[in-house]
Amino acid sequence: MPRNFLTTADWTREELEGLLLRAVRFKRGEDLQKPLAGRSVALVFFNPSLRTRASMQVGTYELGGNAVILEPGGTSWTLEHREGVVMDGDKTEHVKEFVRVLARYASLLGVRTFAALKDWKEERQDPVLAAFARHSEVPVVNLESAMHHPCQAMADMMTVREKLGEGRKKVLLTWAWHPKPLPMAVPNSFALAAAQMGHDLTIAHPPGYELDEDLIREINSRAFDAGATVSVTHDVEEAFDGQQVVYAKSWGSKEFYGSAAADIEERAPYRSEWIVDASKMARTDGGIFMHCLPVRRNCIVTDDVLDSDASVVIDEAENRLHVQKAIMAELLK
Ligand code: CP
Repeated sequence: MPRNFLTTADWTREELEGLLLRAVRFKRGEDLQKPLAGRSVALVFFNPSLRTRASMQVGTYELGGNAVILEPGGTSWTLEHREGVVMDGDKTEHVKEFVRVLARYASLLGVRTFAALKDWKEERQDPVLAAFARHSEVPVVNLESAMHHPCQAMADMMTVREKLGEGRKKVLLTWAWHPKPLPMAVPNSFALAAAQMGHDLTIAHPPGYELDEDLIREINSRAFDAGATVSVTHDVEEAFDGQQVVYAKSWGSKEFYGSAAADIEERAPYRSEWIVDASKMARTDGGIFMHCLPVRRNCIVTDDVLDSDASVVIDEAENRLHVQKAIMAELLK
């Protein structure tokens, strides 16, 4: 079976460190290897993207390769991922054929498949990503699934190190108000990677917006292994005290999964409080502001913070390119 990049949990801290070092060499122009020369990668997007799509396409080109972009239901057939179903509905092709055919053309597959926010029990198993990995004979890179966005998390870890230097940092992951429920992949992967890299992590969210229990156990275990700490708070002001990194993200409540209207009603009281603004940033230890983008201005974060010198979101987005080149190069070794 090929090695995949589905979640950072499948990679040791040493391996992640190696990817970060290589990403830095790519960024500095010190690594000019072309492991994709004469080869292609297939990038499958079930959902929209700016950063992931552009950085994977550019990264593939810079590694000497060619990127084929496919959008199931748009530029390619609608896809079924469930085993044993009678395909008499609206799905034209099964992942089983789709993936095995693509693997005959391409040396690596990337797939973006967001949570549909309909059925928590099913979606927390990442069924579409798992089907791609199960049937692929070439490495699969997760370009954001229902549960994980590991390429984003690696760019985040690279950015923390680039801005603040090596070693353990005080890192806050804070929920923020957004007009509608969003998937949990980004906060899941950021928290997991921060724990794996040995940062002291605080997770702040209103009651009812807990992350997945199994994932929290995994985060605690990885933090323990790395000699770091994890704490969870509902206090959106105190959470900022002394932090070196503020990572904002909104996500939906598991309690209201499949019922957006109920979640929207539940979160309404949090609108004015759960936003990153200058007064909260003033409580940090000169903290940097991070977000995966796209970000809704003056919902998640105020203009003055996003436009301030503390904001590193553009460098963070750039680092997607460098870490993904490192990931692809490692998988294609
Ligand atoms: N952060 C991120 O994955 O951006 P896109 O959704 O634009 O790819």
